[in-house]
Amino acid sequence: MPHANTTASRPPLVHLKLSGDALGAARQRMTSLPRLNIDRNVVLDVEKLANGTFSPLTGFMGSADYRSVLDEVRLANGTPWSIPVILQFHAAAGITVGTEVLLWNEAEAAPSALLQVSEVFGIDLLEQARKVYGTEDQAHPGVKRMISLGAVCLAGAIALLGHSKSLIPAAYDKDPSEVRAEIDRRGWRTVTGFQTRNLGHKAHEHLQKIGLELTDGLLIHPLIGWKKAGDMLPEVILDGYEILIEHYYPRDKVMLAGLTTAMRYAGPREALFHSIIRRNFGCTHFIVGRDHAGVGNYYEKYAGHRIFDRFSAAELGITPLRLHGPCYCSRCDEIVTEQICPHGPDAWRDISGTEVRAMIARGEEPPASIMRPEIARFLIARGRSGAVFFEE
Ligand code: ADX
Repeated sequence: MPHANTTASRPPLVHLKLSGDALGAARQRMTSLPRLNIDRNVVLDVEKLANGTFSPLTGFMGSADYRSVLDEVRLANGTPWSIPVILQFHAAAGITVGTEVLLWNEAEAAPSALLQVSEVFGIDLLEQARKVYGTEDQAHPGVKRMISLGAVCLAGAIALLGHSKSLIPAAYDKDPSEVRAEIDRRGWRTVTGFQTRNLGHKAHEHLQKIGLELTDGLLIHPLIGWKKAGDMLPEVILDGYEILIEHYYPRDKVMLAGLTTAMRYAGPREALFHSIIRRNFGCTHFIVGRDHAGVGNYYEKYAGHRIFDRFSAAELGITPLRLHGPCYCSRCDEIVTEQICPHGPDAWRDISGTEVRAMIARGEEPPASIMRPEIARFLIARGRSGAVFFEE
């Protein structure tokens, strides 16, 4: 194993949730504060700051951290960090340094958090698009969404006033501290984290089981939050994974929980971001496969592997497992990778999420060579009775 990260060497978690008297006082004060509306996904990020998912961040980034993340892939103090966590608006008239602001969950008409404004600064949205997403193309879904949020940023520490309505059942909506506690209860010293935005096909299963060979446990951690049209709905992913785990995984070695934050589709930078988040959830290892967090043809297949070359596993606190793309080999009649199979492209059938999605959308059952029949049947049945994918 490349580096001995274990659960014994976890970094501390940030906790920014108000409770008791402090919460009572804040709730009284909030009615007289300037109020700024934030959308569902910004609400989710506020909550991720508050529950330590984004540790060591304690609030929305200021310009020094922002610039450093763009240019160095590190916070200003040198800590590895790849995706800006900024609070964007189109304008912030009247908000100055030192102001306390109420961040208002517009969709639910409820208070989200207090923000102690430490800086107001402008950003160049196209520069961010280039440096973080590798493209200025607004056909890129992550770039489009990021640009739509505006070029004025408010930085500062936050204090959480209340949670938004959960997008998933409580059993899956776990804070990092809760997942860490469950890992400890199970006695795992090493844990592989698996990020996904879709329900597993056999390539995913192959990758996850390599993780299980190498570490004591596996955290299957689908991302639940804003995603582009065509990606799978949260309840489909979670229900489907329960079926997959029941039939094909050692139950006591696997944990399933949701990560409620938006996809950015930022490819290699998001691979690093996803690994830092999973470290905070208690993982010691993290799977990075082919075109991690990619979309279209914006990223080179293994760019997500290479970004980790710039950081040591010790400074990240998590060890990347850079895995090659599994495919189905008709001569071996099993899932292989180019690392282990000699038969070459003529015998290899690629397993792509896009292809699986297209088959499901047509009501066609993906073959057992690329998807477990229980999952294929489940997806087809779901498709008949309701939605499976996000729509525009
Ligand atoms: S992602 O946006 O969350 O990366 P997805 O759910 O498709 O998308 O993939 C989850 C993980 O499995 C990522 O690490 C990705 O690189 C890897 N992966 C997905 N499909 C394949 C495949 N066919 N071959 C290799 N790795 C894959």
